[in-house]
Amino acid sequence: MTNTNTHFTASNIPSQQGRRVLITGANSGIGFETALELARRGAEVILPARSLDKANDAITRILREVPHAKLTPAMLDLASLASIHAFADFIDATFPGQSLDLLINNAGVMAVPQRELTVDGYERQFATNYLGPFALTALLYPHLKQQQGTRIVTVSSGVSNQSKIEFDNLQSEKKYNPMFGAYSQSKLADLIFQQELQRRLTSTGSPILSTGAHPGYAITNLQISGPQGKMPFPMRLATAILKPLASQDAHHGALPTLFAATSPDATPGGYYGPSGFQEIKGHPVPAKIAPSAKDEALAKRLWSETETLTGVTFHLRSR
Ligand SMILES: NC(=O)c1ccc[n+]([C@@H]2O[C@H](COP(=O)([O-])OP(=O)(O)OC[C@H]3O[C@@H](n4cnc5c(N)ncnc54)[C@H](OP(=O)(O)O)[C@@H]3O)[C@@H](O)[C@H]2O)c1
Repeated sequence: MTNTNTHFTASNIPSQQGRRVLITGANSGIGFETALELARRGAEVILPARSLDKANDAITRILREVPHAKLTPAMLDLASLASIHAFADFIDATFPGQSLDLLINNAGVMAVPQRELTVDGYERQFATNYLGPFALTALLYPHLKQQQGTRIVTVSSGVSNQSKIEFDNLQSEKKYNPMFGAYSQSKLADLIFQQELQRRLTSTGSPILSTGAHPGYAITNLQISGPQGKMPFPMRLATAILKPLASQDAHHGALPTLFAATSPDATPGGYYGPSGFQEIKGHPVPAKIAPSAKDEALAKRLWSETETLTGVTFHLRSR
């Protein structure tokens, strides 16, 4: 048994034998570390990536450490609704019925320098970080086991505390600010979704938990992987200053996610981040939830707007 007063490490992850988990963005950074640790504890892991090569590369790296791991590669581009539907069809065909114990919405992009639109015409960060995970979760929901222990984990960010939802600028159509605009809004939307999802699960009597996490500041590809491969100057400056002082590696950045995904002490709607100053690094503890992420009217409005934008209605059934 672990709790947030003791330091949760990967060694505290309960056995995952017999559990099938799906992690987006598991070919890199925090998602990769999450997949590795869950596989080490016996989970079967589905790793969808933007190409099969990337998924298979991650599988090769995990198998080096966990030779008998059961791992399934797949393709998924969260910035494309067609790709999300195709991936959901793949899950329908390959893992029919209530086949999943854990869904971790981890994939994301940060601070894309110039405003870009996806194939569906949505701003890339809002689409990848929020609309896509919402649609994916809704489409995969029928595959989640309606039993104790099943969880949906959504990865947000500390910058959600410095944001607001601008319904008249959801796609940054009026003003584009790569980090403290489009990115932070998308990560606040993730947190609002995670909280609202728990309320809806509870109201339908579902035993599934919706938990959330943020990694603080973890050194991963996120800081360099905008589609144009470069960050705006303020981000480069902030990174150069903060990196040596206050950051953790991807393994430690994954611990809040692993706590939210596996700890018996995670609570319904619980949101976890690092314990240290400004939640930048440290062991997993309950994280600060932005007041707007607790605003139920705002959450309902965003949910409804998201169903319209994605064309995906999220049906939660009663037990
Ligand atoms: N690192 C931090 O300090 C930090 C702080 C706060 C929050 N976060 C959050 O943590 C999560 C993981 O980020 P990370 O730091 O591990 O970054 P990362 O190393 O860049 O990993 C991001 C993952 O998301 C995938 N991805 C990006 N766009 C995608 C798309 N359109 N469809 C499917 N997958 C896509 C990437 O795939 P490719 O390899 O194909 O690009 C990669 O696997 C993100 O949600 C991020 O917002 C990170």
